[in-house]
Amino acid sequence: MPGLTVPDQKKLGGYDFYREVLGSPKYVVAPMVDQSELAWRRLSRRYGAQLVYTPMINAKMFSDPKHKYREEVFNIIVGEEGGPEDRPLIIQFCANDPEQLLTSAKTLEPYCDAIDINLGCPQDIARRGHYGSFLQDEWDLIYELINALHRNLSIPVTAKFRVFPTVEKTVEYAKMLERAGAQILTCHGRTREQRGHKTGLADWDKIRAVKEAVSVPVFANGNVLFHADVERLLAATGADAVMSAEGNLYNPALFSSAPHPLLSEESPTACTSSASSLPPASPLPTSTYLTGTHPRHTTLALEYLDIVKTQQTQTPLRCVKGHLFKLLKPALSRETDLRDRLGRVRYEKPETAMWDKYEEIVKELDERMQRDAKATEGRPLESLVTVDFATGLPVLPHWLAQPYVRPPPPAPSKAQGTLSDMKAGKRSQPETEDTPEATETSKRVKPESETTEVVVTAQDG
Ligand SMILES: Cc1cc2nc3c(=O)[nH]c(=O)nc-3n(C[C@H](O)[C@H](O)[C@H](O)COP(=O)(O)O)c2cc1C
Repeated sequence: MPGLTVPDQKKLGGYDFYREVLGSPKYVVAPMVDQSELAWRRLSRRYGAQLVYTPMINAKMFSDPKHKYREEVFNIIVGEEGGPEDRPLIIQFCANDPEQLLTSAKTLEPYCDAIDINLGCPQDIARRGHYGSFLQDEWDLIYELINALHRNLSIPVTAKFRVFPTVEKTVEYAKMLERAGAQILTCHGRTREQRGHKTGLADWDKIRAVKEAVSVPVFANGNVLFHADVERLLAATGADAVMSAEGNLYNPALFSSAPHPLLSEESPTACTSSASSLPPASPLPTSTYLTGTHPRHTTLALEYLDIVKTQQTQTPLRCVKGHLFKLLKPALSRETDLRDRLGRVRYEKPETAMWDKYEEIVKELDERMQRDAKATEGRPLESLVTVDFATGLPVLPHWLAQPYVRPPPPAPSKAQGTLSDMKAGKRSQPETEDTPEATETSKRVKPESETTEVVVTAQDG
């Protein structure tokens, strides 16, 4: 297991770093504001994540030693964040000033394996703060940001970016990031414009072109909902690893393959027949998607709450609320009384009182899920899977953790994908739902303090 950074240790780069320090991870959990916090990182690692990123930290605010923000975003004092059980870990910053970035990165370099720079955030908050994808046209500045860390840190610098509209520019950009000193590149296959209702599909071909053009490891990001997508993305792009954000939030076991065959071996015709009943837009047969682990979501939620309760590092209420609403989503539209109770939990001290309230609600939901699961006992999973007609994707029984798939936008443009795209395994990417928790998070977002790349819309909830 990678240990704490030793300052005089030889600094490795590229594949040496990827293999010897990170342990050749293939399964990576993305940086996610308010969602890739310590407790979630721990849960994700238990279920197969091999490398995890922190939520993005604003270098400008972090570089001010008196700012309260510092303790909030990364707790050095308790010692759990970045400690032996929280490795390998990459800490992500957004920045537009090399000096501020270096000061902040220096403070946290002993607690992680690399520092990542967010060059992908497309939100208005990033436009106002002048960071993320809004630096995409300022190549000299980006070069300086990366190069300052490359020359001055004892650990490697990495970069996460969005693609450009053309393959040529995307490749040219990736090569510049590599020249500046980035030792791993994460390529999110969407452009800066692909956000909100225009989110659409990630372009795996551009990721492949980047992978072929650079010599450092490349992580591929975008369009991963089911476990089967992980292997397909690796195969389609040749990338070294897959990074997941939303897929991981709805099923933190996304990276684990099924513990046993979910489809009975002796009944391949059963899969074929279930596949043949799919609507014409179905991307792939249902059986293709049932290769991963989908634990009962209430079990995952209780495990997560247990981590929150037992670790010393405090978890903000908004993180916990966000996770519970996403994880439990398949059941909450049925169990509306419990959904309302979840939404009514407010901040109080001691914090354990809030966690106890959540636990009580989740346990109640768990009993109902056990009841529903029991009612179908003996039936093979494939017979319980239905198909979402709008997307052609499988919908698992409501007690199992699974991706949340929003209907595709009404008039698909080229970027949003066609039927043949779907058949090729590409499809509409979900946006964040408008659950009470998401609305709450979006309301409290302050300029420059934090961001999420996902736009909150008011279409459901
Ligand atoms: C809740 C949430 C928070 C996010 N926060 C960050 C962030 O802090 N830094 C970043 O680079 N990307 C952030 N993203 C973007 C993801 O890292 C990822 O690039 C994007 O969601 C596409 O991956 P996916 O298709 O697996 O969701 C966030 C995404 C979500 C859903």
